[in-house]
Amino acid sequence: MAGCFITFEGGEGAGKSTQIERLKNRLERLAQPVLVTREPGGSPHAEEIRAFILGGHAKHLGPFAEALMFAAARIDHLDQTIVPALRSGTHVLCDRFADSTRAYQGSLGNIDKGLIDRLEKVTLQGVKPDLTLILDLPAEIGLARAGARQARKGEGADRFEEEDISFHQSLRQAYLSIAEAEPKRCVVVDANQDLDEVETAIWAALCERLPQMTEHAVRPLDVA
Ligand code: TYD
Repeated sequence: MAGCFITFEGGEGAGKSTQIERLKNRLERLAQPVLVTREPGGSPHAEEIRAFILGGHAKHLGPFAEALMFAAARIDHLDQTIVPALRSGTHVLCDRFADSTRAYQGSLGNIDKGLIDRLEKVTLQGVKPDLTLILDLPAEIGLARAGARQARKGEGADRFEEEDISFHQSLRQAYLSIAEAEPKRCVVVDANQDLDEVETAIWAALCERLPQMTEHAVRPLDVA
């Protein structure tokens, strides 16, 4: 594909959306075309599924049915948004993707890893992120940040933010295991530092792994 596909993963309050916005701005300053999207959601039908799941309506179906619903949303998101953008040469920055299903439904929901692998294979049809940035920080700090954000916005906790601290500690371990299993695709970023430092670490990861993105899209000689 002509564009690069970058996913952002991590627990609650890791600062994914702030860092996605910062990375988008940096890339646009280099004239790189960028699309920001998110999961669950990112296409009209997937957004409908998002409202259903995060409203807590899928919880009683159990983690595997929930994984199927995230996968259904992902199929539409890939077809309608991600693949067309990548084909046209636009880089895609996605807030959560298939690793969220691995971590939340697979590890925490105790779904057999082989089953999650097969579900992922049929869902993704060969589309894999070029780079996955896992924003890592202690669960207590992430939850405190997420709580403060909700209080500012006057929102309540969603389906997953209502889980207790041990859930979020296990979530962190699940992400670290994913990174360990796929070191070529994943980079763990220490998100327990100030925003500028996290941004710098993310940029360093891109420079190393995807140098074609960190240079100007149009070189001065091409313009002449
Ligand atoms: P969101 O409000 O987007 O949370 P965040 O800011 O933490 O990304 O809600 C998405 C929630 O859905 C989040 O708690 C993680 C969960 N989720 C899964 O459990 N499985 C998945 O496959 C995806 C994409 C998200």
